[in-house]
Amino acid sequence: MRGLRSTLSLGLALGLGMGYALGGCAPGGSERAPGSEGDGGARASSEPLPERFGLGRPAGDGEIAALAIAVMPDGRGLPAGSGTAREGGPLYAAQCAACHGSQGEGGLGGQLAGRITDDAFDFGDGMEGPRTIGSYWPYATTVFDYVRRSMPFDRPGSLTDEEVYAITAHLLYLNDLVGADETMDRETLPQVVMPARDRFVPDDREERNRVW
Ligand code: HEC
Repeated sequence: MRGLRSTLSLGLALGLGMGYALGGCAPGGSERAPGSEGDGGARASSEPLPERFGLGRPAGDGEIAALAIAVMPDGRGLPAGSGTAREGGPLYAAQCAACHGSQGEGGLGGQLAGRITDDAFDFGDGMEGPRTIGSYWPYATTVFDYVRRSMPFDRPGSLTDEEVYAITAHLLYLNDLVGADETMDRETLPQVVMPARDRFVPDDREERNRVW
């Protein structure tokens, strides 16, 4: 989540930066456009924006398909393929353990394994304790989605779907949620019930009290 947020803000910053640069190159230099007094820019605010800015090109179907990889909590969007924790163990050791520890105990990257006694993570009351996959994540399918799109941190997108299934199974195994030989695929992964699943509720408070 944090990763996504920083990617979004980077995109925003680049967009703003580009707008600024284009504004700086606008014909007329420092001269004010007629009628723009007071708005601080070269374009009167009532003037409609052009339909196109002459930048970029339409994305192709293949390019969109390569990015449209979201997996929903109920498993919609999961690809074909399968894997077990036993298959994922060596992959995890080679590609993830350097940052997350050999048993998911954390290191350069966060702690991924560990349950809270009685699975009683204190949601909404201090939020103390490690937010591991076993103590905090509501859906097993999100583990697949997150790992596929963003890990390993230094080579995101480099894992095959088979490898992601196996590594996801291994992460669930490290959290005592599946057995070593249980096959994870588009049918079985959504059926794994995470301890924190019912601890997340829709935020139905009034607009002004929302937390985002
Ligand atoms: C080079 C170090 C590095 C490697 C290698 C790496 N990770 Fe990460 N991982 C990170 C960092 C840093 C974050 C935090 C990213 C963020 O918050 O944007 C993270 C976050 C995560 C998270 C989310 C944790 C949470 O609860 O917020 C998961 C799950 C994860 N990694 C799994 C993996 C898996 C699986 C692999 C191997 C395929 C892997 N990582 C390899 C550094 C690494």
